[in-house]
Amino acid sequence: MRGGVTVRTLARPLTSISSRRDVGRSRGKMCGIFAFLNYNVARERRYILEVLFNGLRRLEYRGYDSSGIAIDADLRSPVAIDKGEGNDGGEEASRLPYNSAPPLVFRQEGKIESLVRSVYSEVDAMDLNLEKSFSVHAGIAHTRWATHGVPSPRNSHPQSSGACNEFLVVHNGIITNYEVLKETLIRHGFTFESETDTEVIPKLAKFVFDKARDEEGEQTVTFSQVVTEVMRQLEGAYALIFKSAHYPNELIACKRGSTLILGVKELSDDKNSGKLFHDVKALTKDEKPKELFFSSDLCAIVEHTKNYLAIEDNEVVHIKDGCVSILKFDYGREKPASVQRALSVLEMEVEQIKKGNYDHFMQKEIHEQPHSLTTTMRGRLKDNSVVLGGLKDHLKTIRHSRRIIFIGCGTSYNAALAARPFLEELSGIPVTMELASDLLDRQGPIYREDTAVFVSQSGETADTLLALEYALGNGALCVGVTNTVGSTLARRTHCGVHINAGCEIGVASTKAYTSQIVVMAMMALAIGADKISTQARREAIINGLSDLPKKVSEVLKLDGEMRDLAKSLIDTQSLLVFGRGYNYATALEGALKVKEVALMHSEGMLAGEMKHGPLALVDETLPIIVIATHDACFSKQQSVIQQLHARKGRLIVMCSEGDATSVCPMGSCRVIEVPQVADCLQPVINIIPMQLLAYHLTVLRGYDVDQPRNLAKSVTTE
Ligand code: F6R
Repeated sequence: MRGGVTVRTLARPLTSISSRRDVGRSRGKMCGIFAFLNYNVARERRYILEVLFNGLRRLEYRGYDSSGIAIDADLRSPVAIDKGEGNDGGEEASRLPYNSAPPLVFRQEGKIESLVRSVYSEVDAMDLNLEKSFSVHAGIAHTRWATHGVPSPRNSHPQSSGACNEFLVVHNGIITNYEVLKETLIRHGFTFESETDTEVIPKLAKFVFDKARDEEGEQTVTFSQVVTEVMRQLEGAYALIFKSAHYPNELIACKRGSTLILGVKELSDDKNSGKLFHDVKALTKDEKPKELFFSSDLCAIVEHTKNYLAIEDNEVVHIKDGCVSILKFDYGREKPASVQRALSVLEMEVEQIKKGNYDHFMQKEIHEQPHSLTTTMRGRLKDNSVVLGGLKDHLKTIRHSRRIIFIGCGTSYNAALAARPFLEELSGIPVTMELASDLLDRQGPIYREDTAVFVSQSGETADTLLALEYALGNGALCVGVTNTVGSTLARRTHCGVHINAGCEIGVASTKAYTSQIVVMAMMALAIGADKISTQARREAIINGLSDLPKKVSEVLKLDGEMRDLAKSLIDTQSLLVFGRGYNYATALEGALKVKEVALMHSEGMLAGEMKHGPLALVDETLPIIVIATHDACFSKQQSVIQQLHARKGRLIVMCSEGDATSVCPMGSCRVIEVPQVADCLQPVINIIPMQLLAYHLTVLRGYDVDQPRNLAKSVTTE
């Protein structure tokens, strides 16, 4: 009998817990976790494996250096039980319940497909029946981006409590006190096989379970009691999924900091078609067939169901006998309280996570920008004004700020840089730029009178979130600009705007960049809306915004031309990009795209700085792209082009349609002509040829477009 008796005191704390429990101070590694539990519906082992693999494929962008899964083995025969044999054999297995066998764990280095190949060859070798059907089964999976320990099967997840896999854990995040926990567990006789911080978690679970069982007798402690006691010992940020041979067909997920989603699919008796749940409460007494999922990201759930719950910090979600119960863990209370949560309906289409007719996600995401920009602006441009629901109650405070500070990393920083001149112009408030990591390194001053705008596609970037905690601590009004509903950034800021660009899967950010610029341009319009003097300018920009998706469709026609340009650059070592004014950001972002996917050295530079050093690099071989579209800086860029010409530079000039002869007299350089739009929106147009160039260069050079070397999409480590 399990679960009937309450264990008042589980294991005494292993270590004294420091008071540093602030999630914002430590972030996790870039990993994806996924779980699939089918209840009262027969699913073959092969089907279960494929659901797990597919979940990992959807999450692979988060990390792709190793992966692993755990599924159920066949039940042990009575003979094996008598002899105490699990799949690893030995005394440990005999401690498992009679209806349980040690779960099977498969782990592999490399991308998901190498795990898939190795699992199928291993199950073949062990003669495991893939057609065997389970009416209830709980499987867990993980894709990793290594931080603690090299990519290897040993360091991959699921991490295990020991030889019999009594407790298995997949983890996204970082356990900051793992060293002290490890030392304590070693003193209690545990041996460790990996270099990960995660391994302490399943071992701690086993320690807690064994201790409770020894003190209270066989099977007295529930799975959620074990997990909440484990949580009590952990410091850091994490999303965890637990599977245990002691609690077959159950799963537990919990989190602090890292995102974790529960997906629920009720299956009708006839065609197994999805049906709506409205409340997790409805799942508490329910034997209907269903499939339940845990995932780091909605992308891995959308193909199964649209009913989901964004699990909140310190919630412990327990799936048992087809029911979902949620407990709210509290350090101060011995017994966590039970909570009721409503399910949300996902507004995402399956097409968003599929490549469709494209070869790569990056290519698809570049080409869908007319559509993503339309969704970004949908419902927000009304009668010559901008309505941003998430900001309207704070506009007055922002207008009275002493300073607006943009804070972000990488592409998100570049998007803010592109929006900065327009925000300064319309608000009249000084706008400063901060790379999140640099702000933290300097502990730069931030005041109560400041508005800090945090820009992040994922909403989970560690540096940005740490800077957010810092700004919150200093009393600034914190505004979020993110693509990810329910992300930490969305939850921790005072107010903000979702960019609604749709799921971005390619590791290189493309459509999020253009949507971020458009959102920040709309923010500038909303902040400046009280000024009569700029009304005509604002109206012109609002018209320009409405027209923007059409202009983006036009510039995408340069695809073939960019491919030709990429062919001519395929063997070059280095590329410089010069921009200024609105397009300084275009130079930085264009160069970033080329370096991160095409693995070619590339630098974006402020053209005004050319004479202060970079000019020394110019010769006949080094390709230089100059952004010289029509705006207030145009004549200055013409003079830059002349100077580069005079030094026989290998020039490629991006100019507005019809300007080719004025930027490049006598056809002396290669020209990319782009449609002209309002000056402050021109960066949205100008980046697109650069994205196409980076894409084609990568394909031609034979590199991985969607998963560039050493990178992952959510940079959740400092
Ligand atoms: C570049 C890229 C990165 C991210 C940066 C911030 O293509 O994707 O530079 O922009 O890691 O990520 P977010 O926007 O998720 O905070």
